[in-house]
Amino acid sequence: ASNNKFFVGGNWKCNGTKDSITKLVSDLNSAKLEADVDVVVSPPFVYIDQVKNSLTDRIEISAQNSWVGKGGAFTGEISVEQLKDIGCKWVILGHSERRHVIGEDDQFIGKKAAYALSEGLGVIACIGEKLEEREAGKTFDVCFEQLKAFADAVPSWENIVIAYEPVWAIGTGKVATPQQAQEVHAAVRDWLKSNISPEVASATRIIYGGSVNGGNCAELAKQEDIDGFLVGGASLKGPEFATIINSVT
Ligand code: G3P
Repeated sequence: ASNNKFFVGGNWKCNGTKDSITKLVSDLNSAKLEADVDVVVSPPFVYIDQVKNSLTDRIEISAQNSWVGKGGAFTGEISVEQLKDIGCKWVILGHSERRHVIGEDDQFIGKKAAYALSEGLGVIACIGEKLEEREAGKTFDVCFEQLKAFADAVPSWENIVIAYEPVWAIGTGKVATPQQAQEVHAAVRDWLKSNISPEVASATRIIYGGSVNGGNCAELAKQEDIDGFLVGGASLKGPEFATIINSVT
């Protein structure tokens, strides 16, 4: 970890029921969380209100997506204004599942980020290469291109956390080694330094996602440029998520 405040997000994806989420919230409410870590959970839209009304204020709420502009005649979408209205402070944008399963492209994601920031939401901006891209030696190119699309769209990096999530590590149980993750995080920080500013490079949190669990988090957290985690599967288990949150100490 760098000197930045550690940031741990739990991305619940499209999982849960009213009952399972009641249990998860109660486990999180009784977990002992270290004071110097920012903690965010990201429930499915339909459960955000339930979570907001029952979860400790110690943990902030993120949405998993948002509409690209002001609400209106956009069937099936959820606007940034609505997310703020129900208490969201963050939104995850550019997640690989939205890029590669739903088909969102760099420009669309960049526009969403700019709009969410302009309305005061923090953005968890996801980047990451697919397995074939890593094998072809294109990891940095892919990550930098995705970063550039964010950079071209946003006016400031103040409210952005970058999540590096190699696609081959997401939901596969194949976590990146601490060295593999550190190498990309350092390259991302370098890219920010050369393309944005040294200040943004050192102040921006770069978190890792992809098969993080209670067993592998401590070694990852020791890496110099890993400032936190974006956790999928293991964030659905309260005690294990607490272990990950506390891994930096
Ligand atoms: O956004 C978090 C994520 O994609 C990682 O998922 O299940 O591999 O921890 P998982």
